[in-house]
Amino acid sequence: MGQTWNSETYAKNARFVSDLGMPVVEWLNPNPGERILDLGCGDGALTLKLQEFGCEVVGIDSSPNFIQSANLLGLDVRLLDGHHLNFDNEFDAVFSNAVLHWMKQPDRVIEGVWRSLKPGGRFVGEFGGHGNVSKIVTALHTALNKRGIDPDQINPWYFPTVEEYRSRLEATGFRVSEIVLFPRPTALPTDIRGWLSTFANPFTSALAMLDRDAFLEEVISRLEPDLRDSSGCWFADYVRLRFSAVKPLDSADFGLSI
Ligand code: BEZ
Repeated sequence: MGQTWNSETYAKNARFVSDLGMPVVEWLNPNPGERILDLGCGDGALTLKLQEFGCEVVGIDSSPNFIQSANLLGLDVRLLDGHHLNFDNEFDAVFSNAVLHWMKQPDRVIEGVWRSLKPGGRFVGEFGGHGNVSKIVTALHTALNKRGIDPDQINPWYFPTVEEYRSRLEATGFRVSEIVLFPRPTALPTDIRGWLSTFANPFTSALAMLDRDAFLEEVISRLEPDLRDSSGCWFADYVRLRFSAVKPLDSADFGLSI
């Protein structure tokens, strides 16, 4: 089973995701009147911010639960997987925060973004980069291996290096203005159990219901020495990849045929 989302538990365990997305909005530098696609809009927290800048924003997300919540904010949001973008030369910018690591066919996503943008349009985003949550990944993999399950078949995350993502963007025709990888250890508002229950469903749902609690307990005790400080606060070992790229103005004959 894949990842599932619940707006209520997300707000409790993961509101920091959109709060920490503001620097990406700054990189986007949205201008009033611009038409912007929010790729993986989640519950709409940042989509709303972009709208407050005076932009005309369309959000897409593959989670019906998130789309329902974003709809309640009065946003123009649509249920759509980022691998299947079906827009045509219509956006001034595509923005994406903390979601591209869930999409394991990055070229399909980048090509969809390219088709969605007008010539001169920007693609600005941030997601998990190489080494992201590596302690959490190791603990999950170790505990699954111990139970005879191949974690590589289950792991839903894509965390590329700068070099890899740059070359994928450039192969599609984008000009990369900036791309950086940086560690961002993040204090969790609840604890690592809250994080795992919000973000790691594909790992736990590989197990029979009765075995899940012991699995989570084992993962948590493996992580405690590294990710819990002396005051009891839990951290996640995030590493972010942030980038800004442009579809060149003279791109009509370059890159993908559209
Ligand atoms: C991230 O935002 O980097 C992330 C979130 C959930 C799972 C893995 C990574």
